Amino acid sequence: MKIIMLGAPGAGKGTQAKQIAAKYQIPHISTGDIFRANIKNGTELGKKAKTYMDQGALVPDELTCDLVMDRIQQDDCANGFVLDGFPRTIPQAEALDAALAKINQTMDYAIDVDVPDENIVKRMGGRRACLNCGATYHIVFNPTKVEGVCDACGSKTVLRDDDKPETVQKRLSVYHDQTQPLIDYYKKQNILKSVDGTQPMDKVFADIVTILGE
Ligand code: AP5
Ligand code: ZN
Repeated sequence: MKIIMLGAPGAGKGTQAKQIAAKYQIPHISTGDIFRANIKNGTELGKKAKTYMDQGALVPDELTCDLVMDRIQQDDCANGFVLDGFPRTIPQAEALDAALAKINQTMDYAIDVDVPDENIVKRMGGRRACLNCGATYHIVFNPTKVEGVCDACGSKTVLRDDDKPETVQKRLSVYHDQTQPLIDYYKKQNILKSVDGTQPMDKVFADIVTILGE
């Protein structure tokens, strides 16, 4: 099963993608997580990506597409994958379709996690992320057992640099300009499914399972 998660920053794509990956035994591929791991490790890619991410802008397509195309060709993707944060522009979606067409494949589902902007701004301020293992929490909706400590690995959880209010506004406007057009793109391919992302996390996941099947 090959799945794309669509939705505004903070809509809950990562939260849902992790659960999908676990249930359907497919890799979770998050471009945001890949960039953050590169920043943490001080790689050239990380240095380049950071300048864009800190401003709430998109990393250029040429730095992003090859990375994803290489990843989806690895052996563990043979039975599918869930893409989180990619594609984010029409050229990225076209690059993905072209790469799959070469091996006679197409995407199966694009799931849009729909959340209005006003809820997004509230959510982002409460998000805490573990920069060591990538786990995500929320101080109200999904708190860690011990405040500030990742349940999964014991490292510190922090407010992401790009979750500061002024950057969130910028990310939302970038989303509306560059990413929202993908909803129509996948509607035309007949693979778009929408879920109400304002519901509690387990209810959103139950709706996704209804779409994907048990
Ligand atoms: P990325 O990491 O992809 O960020 P994003 O799309 O902005 O998405 P987020 O990770 O912020 O949110 P999410 O939807 O995964 O929500 P989450 O589950 O965490 O990208 C970061 C940056 O990298 C971009 O700005 C760009 O610069 C660059 N980049 C990445 N991919 C790129 C690409 N393809 N091209 C170019 N540049 C790229 O949930 C959010 C919070 O809400 C959490 O605290 C969570 O606990 C909580 N929550 C989740 N669901 C619920 C719920 N149902 N109810 C209540 N709270 C909830
Ligand atoms: Zn952790």
